[in-house]
Amino acid sequence: MLDRINEILKQVEAFSITSKEELEQFRLKYIAKKGIITLLFEEFKSLPPEEKRQLGQPLNQLKEVAVNKLKAKTTELEAAATTPLQKPIDLTLPVVPHELGTIHPLTQVWEQIVEIFSRIGFNLEEGPEIETDWNNFTALNFPENHPAREMQDTFFIEGKEILLRTHTSNVQIRLMNRRKPPIRSIMPGRVYRNETISARAHCIFHQVEGLYVDRNVSFLDLKQTLYHFAKELFGKETRVRFRPSYFPFTEPSAEIDISCGLNQPTGCQLCGGSKNICKGTGWVEIGGAGMVHPNVLANCHIDPETYTGFAFGMGIERIAMLKYHIRDLRLFTENDVRFLRQF
Ligand code: DAH
Repeated sequence: MLDRINEILKQVEAFSITSKEELEQFRLKYIAKKGIITLLFEEFKSLPPEEKRQLGQPLNQLKEVAVNKLKAKTTELEAAATTPLQKPIDLTLPVVPHELGTIHPLTQVWEQIVEIFSRIGFNLEEGPEIETDWNNFTALNFPENHPAREMQDTFFIEGKEILLRTHTSNVQIRLMNRRKPPIRSIMPGRVYRNETISARAHCIFHQVEGLYVDRNVSFLDLKQTLYHFAKELFGKETRVRFRPSYFPFTEPSAEIDISCGLNQPTGCQLCGGSKNICKGTGWVEIGGAGMVHPNVLANCHIDPETYTGFAFGMGIERIAMLKYHIRDLRLFTENDVRFLRQF
C-alpha cells in the first residue's frame, strides 16, 4: 500500500489545474466522497495495527498535499477571474467623453478689457471690496450729504465708516496714495449696492475703472482711449458718444454711450433690430468718465497745478450683455449650466 500512496502523491503533484473544470476534476478524482484518497482511508481502517502504524503518516501527508493544492488553486483561479487585465478589451468602443467647463462670460469680458488696455500701456490694479468711507466717498469729493451715501444705496458694515464698496473708484484713491504720476492703470472688480434684484439691477455686479494721471493729460486723451477701446471690443464700426453728466470726482464729467449700429450702414448689432436696448436712439450707455477733479488729486497728495488726469468707470455686466445679447442680469449669478455652456 505504501507504494500506491507514493504513486498517488506523484500524480497529485503532477496534476495540472488551469481552469475551473480541471479544478473540479481534481477534487472528484482525489478528495470527494468517492475519490481515491477517501477510499484509501476506508481501506486503512481495516488494516492490522502493525500496518496502520506504518502507513498513517504517509497517508495523512498525501491528503494534506491534495487538500492544500485544491485550496491554493481555488484562490488562484478566483483572483485571475477578477483581474480586469484578464478580460478582453474592446478597442472599438468609443471613449467616454470628458466634460470641459467654459470660462464665465463675465470673466471672458473682464479679461478682454484688461488685455485691450494693457496693449496701450495700462497696468492692472486691484483693491479691496470692504472699504472705508474715506476711500469710497470722501476722498472722491462726495459732498457730506450726497444721496449716494444713504442707506438705500450702500451696504454698511460698521457704523457708517466701513462699507462694501459701491464702485471701483476706491482703487483710484488707493493707487494715487501709493504711487506718484505717471499713473496709467485699469482696475476691474466686484462692487455692491443695496438694490432690489431684477433683470436690470443686482446688488452684486462688476465694474472696470480706468485712470491716467500725468502732466498734460487732456479730455482728448480720454476720448481717443475710449474710441480705441470700443472699436477693439465691439468692432471697427462702433462709435462712442460723450454726454455731459455729473460725478463728484470728475470735472467735466460725461456719460459714455456706444452706438448699436441702428443708424449706421451695419444695422443694429445688439438687439437684432428690436430696438429694445437702445429704445430706438441707436445709442446705449456703458459707463461714466471725466477729468479727475482737482480736489481728488489734492486728497491723494498729487499737485493739481502740475498734474491732470482722466478717469472712467464702466459696467462689466453691461458690456457683456451688449456683446453677447444677454437680456437678464440675474443669469450671470445663477450658474445655470445651460446658460454657461453657451460661452
Ligand atoms: N464710479 C461711477 C459709478 O459707479 C462710475 C465712474 C464715473 C467712474 C466717472 C469714474 C468716472 O472713474 O470718472 O457710477
